[in-house]
Amino acid sequence: MQRRHFLARLAGASGLALATKALPVLAGEEMKGMHGMDMSNMGMNGMHKMRAMQAEAAPGARLAAVTGIPAGRPFTGPAPLRNEAAEPGKFKATLVAAPTRVELIPGVPTQAWTYNGLLPGPLIELRAGDDVEITLKNQLDQPTTIHWHGLPVPPDQDGNPGNAVGPGTSRVYRFKLPETTEGLYWYHPHPHGLSAEQVYRGLAGPIVIRRKDDPLAAVPERILAITDLRLMADGVIPPSGMMDNMNGREGQFALVNGQNRPALAFDAGGRERWRILNATNARYLRLTLPGHTFTLVGTDGGLIERPRPGPREILVAPAQRVDVLVTAAGRHAARLMAAPYDRGKMGGTGPTPSATLLDVDFSDVRRGARTPVPSRLREFPALPAPTARKRVVMSESMDMGAMTMGMTGMGMMGMGGMPGTHAPAPGNHSAMQFLLNGKTFDMHRTDLTSKAGAWEDWEIVNDSDMDHPFHVHGTQFTVLERASGGRTHQAPFRAWHDTVNVKPRETVRIRIMQPMAGIRMYHCHILEHEDLGMMGRLDVT
Ligand code: C2O
Ligand code: CU
Ligand code: CU
Repeated sequence: MQRRHFLARLAGASGLALATKALPVLAGEEMKGMHGMDMSNMGMNGMHKMRAMQAEAAPGARLAAVTGIPAGRPFTGPAPLRNEAAEPGKFKATLVAAPTRVELIPGVPTQAWTYNGLLPGPLIELRAGDDVEITLKNQLDQPTTIHWHGLPVPPDQDGNPGNAVGPGTSRVYRFKLPETTEGLYWYHPHPHGLSAEQVYRGLAGPIVIRRKDDPLAAVPERILAITDLRLMADGVIPPSGMMDNMNGREGQFALVNGQNRPALAFDAGGRERWRILNATNARYLRLTLPGHTFTLVGTDGGLIERPRPGPREILVAPAQRVDVLVTAAGRHAARLMAAPYDRGKMGGTGPTPSATLLDVDFSDVRRGARTPVPSRLREFPALPAPTARKRVVMSESMDMGAMTMGMTGMGMMGMGGMPGTHAPAPGNHSAMQFLLNGKTFDMHRTDLTSKAGAWEDWEIVNDSDMDHPFHVHGTQFTVLERASGGRTHQAPFRAWHDTVNVKPRETVRIRIMQPMAGIRMYHCHILEHEDLGMMGRLDVT
């Protein structure tokens, strides 16, 4: 059965109507309220679970209005994490993961999960070649890890699901950055089955790695860490439902450095460098700044070979980063938008509606002023020929277990996420399974093997109806070409990536090399899909 038929039948058979009804909420409209739900199909079991859920989201709770978190405050960069080391070339700090009361809606407390009390986590500022020592203190009531997304850190320091840090315990992560590493990265939890919830409750932060001879050092820089938040009017961050798990959760807010639609006063010099991180669970950011242009200068792994002026929009999939120069084209104000993007969500959800990320004020810009941009940014030596090939097929299939559950009540409606009921992966209900090469993740199974230092070509095939951002740990790769509908397109420029979006029925070919031996993960970076098992294990020997 085609998934869309299957889902249509589900919607008829049970409370999926709820999910489809509730989803326009994400457009920023108000939720009808829990009592507005259609409960006619709900058995006693369902009613019971429903009450359990309402223990989290209070009875009658409604989504916060999109204006609930004050907009228009002056843009501020992410708060830096203080380096406790005195010697140059060393970075030493502590990150405490803990439930924290924050105030997002004025006067209404929110219980978030934060690093060092901050939403998002503090900015880790490093230099190429640094020795890094970061202690994680886990004050959550569940296991966590810190994964250093995109960085070539030793596998046993990379926060793999198999290296959980238990509640109430701590560990030290140690790694030395190569001299060639530069760019914007991020850190986030990667515990088995719990990553999505830990990130949507607030655990994620940016890392910037600067090098001495940065060719763009003269351009004023901003870091924009974009996170997604679903928030109820009473300040509660609600648990995810089944539709969230299937599609990847998107809330009504896309925050920039934890701020709702801040106001940015553009540099008088008429040019700024924006380093943008998509730290959301599942929200695709199709960035536009109407009336002004972007020049792409960097991707996940740092600078590209030459600046690419002109794009009017740039798609930043979950977990990806872009480095862009913004050039003022006059003094009229503009909004940085995430334009609607259709990523093939299920259940008749439709595209993610647009969101305003920033209000940009260009009124200070001096006429004619413009910091010059060098024509070459980075050397890209020719890549060695591949010595091995791999193929990873992403697919989806019906989950008969979840379906059976659904027919008996609330399970189908997907109010999964009742704390503590389905260890080790609470809330992981879905009517669909998300697979890599036909399998769901097993920590103890080797799916692929590679030799350290060997260049390989991988073919990533999306055999599903939905976009999936494919990510590999421990290294950066180059996209060679994309194929779909019988046509093949070479990558238009050379760049380093650790995450690449693969559209439905598309194949992306990448060239990749793992520098270090050990266990690495590769997975879909819609974190709900990762938790549902759309992940594999690569053993590098
Ligand atoms: Cu950003 Cu395996 O993750
Ligand atoms: Cu990663
Ligand atoms: Cu996915």
